[in-house]
Formats: sequence, structure tokens, C-alpha cells
Amino acid sequence: MKHKTLALTAIAASLWVGAAGAQEYPAKPVTVIVPFAAGGPTDVAARIYREIFGRTLGQQFVVENAAGAGGTTGALRAARATPDGYTIFVHNVAPHVAGPALYPTAVYDPVKNFEPIGTLAFAAHYIVVRKDFPAKDLKEFIAFAKANPGKINYGSAGGGSATHLACVLFGQQAGLEITHVPYRGTGPALNDLVAGTLDLMCDQGLNMMGQATAGGVKVLAVAQKTRFPGLPDVPTSAQAGLPGFEVSAATAMYAIAGTPAPVVAKLTQTMAAAYKDAGVRKRIEDLASELPAGDQATPAGLAAFTASEMARLTEAIKKGGVKAQ
Ligand code: MLT
Repeated sequence: MKHKTLALTAIAASLWVGAAGAQEYPAKPVTVIVPFAAGGPTDVAARIYREIFGRTLGQQFVVENAAGAGGTTGALRAARATPDGYTIFVHNVAPHVAGPALYPTAVYDPVKNFEPIGTLAFAAHYIVVRKDFPAKDLKEFIAFAKANPGKINYGSAGGGSATHLACVLFGQQAGLEITHVPYRGTGPALNDLVAGTLDLMCDQGLNMMGQATAGGVKVLAVAQKTRFPGLPDVPTSAQAGLPGFEVSAATAMYAIAGTPAPVVAKLTQTMAAAYKDAGVRKRIEDLASELPAGDQATPAGLAAFTASEMARLTEAIKKGGVKAQ
């Protein structure tokens, strides 16, 4: 009888611990895998959000930069992590979904292996050149590049990264032969653009706003329909002579597939609260980016976007013969 009572007490205690464990999530620091180098747009967005997640959930959210192979090294590491909410993943949606189509080592499924939490920011791409590039506007740049085929170097965060795909599109639309130089993230690529060892980047505001306003780089156009108020002198691609060149990037947070539903719910609720935080909004908007709105600001919206981008980019990569390098 005594044994039976002890056994029942033990079962009750373990059930209690299990329930409390879910309620108390996170009970220890959470690792946020970012698959690009520190200082780039994915890293910057992850660090803005990890602050409010940490404050709201009372634990540290620690960014770990696991860069390499266009973001697929970190994505694979995240896909294989224990799905307990103590590893989450922040990635740019384009390289996330393009990775498996470009790298044989990227043996993960961008949709099935991840649980959408929310989009952190949408950001237009900008055509940015080194500050002493001998072209005062986009038309002059295109003329120079046409006269010097293969001689213009552009930096990206690696094959299949958003900055790579945006410049592939730019080259195709403008009819240019430009040379790709892959980095482990656009943070280090931007350093080389500022230093003048690179000519061109098709970068996001999240990365280059500081240098754009400080005069460290020359911004020739924004690849969207409207000018960004923070850079009023920068024309849209159409105004600069390249209509139809419109590219934007989305940075998003995912849990690992199989993470317990109460933990996913805590993360999605925290994300919904972050969207309402004036400080988060200001920091994202100051970096020429936008918070998601309407359906886009829901995990279901991110799930649909991830799946449709995967179909669109996988097809475009096959058709365009895009290679990782
Ligand atoms: C990209 O896909 O180009 C990334 O956003 C780069 C980065 O975050 O460093």
C-alpha cells in the first residue's frame, strides 16, 4: 500500500513538473540561430526582436551566428535542433527557401522542418555602389558596367542569399555582366564596399542605412514603387530608368517543427506584442523597413508566404540556371 501511494505521488509530481515546465517556458536562455555573419540585416533584425522577447519572457535570447553556404549551414543546424523552444531560427525568407534548390548539402525542408512564428521586417533592396564610383546616377552606372563587362564586382551574403538573387535580377534586367563575390553575410560585404574593394551591392536598408546617411556609400535607387522618406534624394528604380526592378526581402522567425504547441503559442503571442511596441516599430522603420500588417502579421500568413516563395524561387532558380556561386 505504501509503495502504491509513493508511486502515485511520483506520477502526480512528474505530471505537475511537466505542466509547470510548459507554463514556465522559457526556464533557461534561448538560442536564436542566425545563419549569417553579425552586423548584417538578418542579425540586426534578430537583435532588435531578441531584446523584446527577452524582456517579455524574462529570459535571455542569445544570438548565435552560424554563417556559411548562403545561410544553409545555419538552417540545417536549426532543422536538426531539439524542438523544445530553446532553439529558434531567424532567417531571410528568400535564402531560406532557395537553399535546398542550390546546395546539395542543404538537406532540410524549409516548410516541413520549421514552425512559423512571425515576420520581423519587410525591406526593399537598394542599388548601392562605393562612394567614389565614377557614376552619378543609375543610368551612368549601367552605361559604365556595359562598357566594362565582367569588371564590376558585387558582394552578397553567399549564393542564394537575398543580396545575391537581387543582383542576379538587376544584372538580367539591366543587361549587365557583373561578377559575384560571396561573403558570409552582408555585414562584412558592406565593410568592403565602404573600403572600396567592392563596386556594388543590392543591399537592404536594414544593413546599409547607417552608411547611406553617413556618406560611406552611394545609393543609386530603391527597388520599389515609392521613395523611402528617410532617403528622399534616392529615386525609385523606375525614376532612375529601370522600371519593373522591384525586389524586397522578408526576415522571419521560426521555431523548429515539433516544438510543443504551448511553447509555440508563447512565442507567437510575444511576436504579436512586439508588433505593437513603439520602440520596435521605430527601430525597424528607421532602417528603411516595415513591420508586417494584416494577414502578413500572423504565423499563418508567414506559413503561406514561405510556401509560395519556395515554389516561386525554386522554379526561378531552375529556369534561370542560377548557381550557388
Ligand atoms: C541576405 O540574404 O542577403 C541576408 O539578408 C544577408 C545577411 O543577413 O547578412
